[in-house]
Amino acid sequence: MIEDTLLVQLAKDYGTPLYVYDGDEVVARYNSFLKAFKSRYKKTKVMYAVKANSSLALLRLLAKQGCGADVVSGGELFIARKAGIKSEDIIFTSSSKTVQELELALEEDVIVTHGNVSELLTFSSIAEERGKTARICFRVNPDVSSKTHPKIATGLKNSKFGLHLEGDIALKAYEKALELNGVKPIGVHAHIGSQIHESQAFEEAVSKLMDFAVMLKKELGVELDFIDLGGGLGISHQGEKTLTPKEFAEAILPNFLNGLEDLSNEPYLYLEPGRYIVGPAGVLLTKVNSVKKTPYKNFVNVDAGFNTLARPTLYDAYHHMTVLGKSGNEELVDVAGNVCESGDILGRDRSLPKTSVGDIISIKDCGAYGFAMASEYNSQPLPCEVLVRGGIGELIRTRRSYSDLIAEQKIPEALK
Ligand code: LLP
Repeated sequence: MIEDTLLVQLAKDYGTPLYVYDGDEVVARYNSFLKAFKSRYKKTKVMYAVKANSSLALLRLLAKQGCGADVVSGGELFIARKAGIKSEDIIFTSSSKTVQELELALEEDVIVTHGNVSELLTFSSIAEERGKTARICFRVNPDVSSKTHPKIATGLKNSKFGLHLEGDIALKAYEKALELNGVKPIGVHAHIGSQIHESQAFEEAVSKLMDFAVMLKKELGVELDFIDLGGGLGISHQGEKTLTPKEFAEAILPNFLNGLEDLSNEPYLYLEPGRYIVGPAGVLLTKVNSVKKTPYKNFVNVDAGFNTLARPTLYDAYHHMTVLGKSGNEELVDVAGNVCESGDILGRDRSLPKTSVGDIISIKDCGAYGFAMASEYNSQPLPCEVLVRGGIGELIRTRRSYSDLIAEQKIPEALK
């Protein structure tokens, strides 16, 4: 945990809004996740979900631990490779890839996950043209309902992700892949959603996935090199009960290991945690611009908004807050963002020590889907990021400036 005094100093040195990550915590969380599975099943690989936080320095830190990556765009693939993650440890999962992205995947020789046959055909012909056989897998839709925000549940049957198991839709996709020269199916993938606190939906999905793996072997003679169970392990934002990696592993591995008994080989187990690894290791620091009392509510206006942290507005997410250097003397406030929309409230009805202009508020658990989802809406330049290791903070991304806001823009000749 980073000391509040250091956070105050970093806010002074680099300004706000500022994302600060505890690198030692990231490493510890990665190791505890990996150990929970590896100690029970040796052939486990953690493919960190880059979408949670794709900052180069964080990825480099994870690469140094031997971590793999789940990427969902050409951009993430590019950054993951630049960070030093090996091609063989990267899986490219997205429901919609461009030809350029497929070409890049082929060039970089990473595993590609397809969620439909149409993309498979495109990829296979690109690979065939270049005389290559690409390693692929399919994402299946296990049709399980996880208790999470509807916008981040992905395993339901009406979701846009994956191929359905029903009607042998997924099985037929493998059959098709086996007929093609440009691809070789070597794995199976599922991801049922994110920020999940209970194991039941995971257990169900694993059991369906294992039944499917057995069917692949029996019906098509496919021996899988890996089975990818995706990400989704939740984190606690306000003390709610969530699974530890050990509890998570103990809950889902029995179904996985049972399924293995009917396979003739021992595939790798891939897991794609994103939020668990980086979420609690990051805070967003924001400064109080002004305070206001109305007959109905008290507002604390800060210099971050849903352009800096989208989660409260987008998913009604709760992120705990503290006022650095203050305690007691609490009052009920809404912490209001600086975006000109009523929906831009970062924290509703929060009991916070009485704040004054210039105070720094630390918003917790912002390491995942924080900066990664930030935008420059309202022409607020993207914030900067600091990585703390061994109690020392280093800037890992400079703050964008006003001139950066117009750097890529052009005024047509006729308007000059
Ligand atoms: N694998 C795949 C294929 C995914 O789609 C995702 C997340 C993950 C792994 C990582 O899931 P995690 O372990 O982080 O739960 N922006 C939302 C979360 C969207 C998650 C999308 N997919 C949020 O802020 O809650």
